[in-house]
Amino acid sequence: PVKDKVVVNDRWGSNCKCKHGGYLTCNDHYNPGVLQKRKWEDCTTVDRGSWGYRRNVDLSSYLTMDDITDTLAEVVSCGGNMLLNVGPTHDGRIIPIFEERLRQTGDWLKVNGEAIYSSKPWTSQNDTVTKGIWFTSKPVNGEVVVYAIVLNWPSSNYLVLGTPVTSPKTTVNMLGYSPPLLWKQTATAGMNITMPNLSVNAMPCKWAWVLKLTNVV
Ligand SMILES: *[C@@H]1O[C@H](CO)[C@@H](O)[C@H](O)[C@H]1NC(C)=O
Ligand SMILES: *[C@@H]1O[C@H](CO)[C@@H](O)[C@H](O)[C@H]1NC(C)=O
Ligand SMILES: *[C@@H]1O[C@H](CO)[C@@H](O)[C@H](O)[C@H]1NC(C)=O
Repeated sequence: PVKDKVVVNDRWGSNCKCKHGGYLTCNDHYNPGVLQKRKWEDCTTVDRGSWGYRRNVDLSSYLTMDDITDTLAEVVSCGGNMLLNVGPTHDGRIIPIFEERLRQTGDWLKVNGEAIYSSKPWTSQNDTVTKGIWFTSKPVNGEVVVYAIVLNWPSSNYLVLGTPVTSPKTTVNMLGYSPPLLWKQTATAGMNITMPNLSVNAMPCKWAWVLKLTNVV
């Protein structure tokens, strides 16, 4: 009776993983980096080395926020869902550093969730010119909007995107920042986008930034 409302993973019998299920989780920390034909999930952990809480863990085992936004962008661009585990202590507490990572992920999503929730993979997953750019897309008011998740702020303040094909109507906006960004077509490389001059406290978020592109194919 719930068949239209529940989704089943691939972990319910022997020889199911990566073969049978409503979506595929394959091995833990599965992140193929390219678009998959079927829905899939990256089941991953804030403590790289354990699903449960470890008293003898060291800080370098914990994902940083950059690790989390990098993985989220890559996974969602390639059609996946991201499951992020934290393990409670034996007496049921979530330690503050796990709580902090989850709250920071929430802070990032408050600004940038538009590029994640209900998004679909775009025709390309990552940019051909600049590394660390992952695309998602979504219909907004009948138009396909493309989101470019920028993992590293460009050191020159100019960001070149090779994949999107522009038209004179193309617009570029950063989520969480109102003024539209200036861009121009380069002769060879594609779009050359001028990143805004933001002071640290005016940054819409701290770990990865999302550019919303309209009228690109
Ligand atoms: C795009 O992603 C693929 C697959 O993960 C990778 O091999 C390639 O180097 C990436 N391209 C750039 C420009 O980073
Ligand atoms: C992007 O534009 C800036 C400012 O005009 C320029 O200095 C830079 O060389 C351009 N980059 C490319 C790849 O065209
Ligand atoms: C950013 O600030 C620098 C230094 O004040 C200035 O030279 C540059 O033109 C500014 N860029 C933009 C896009 O406003």
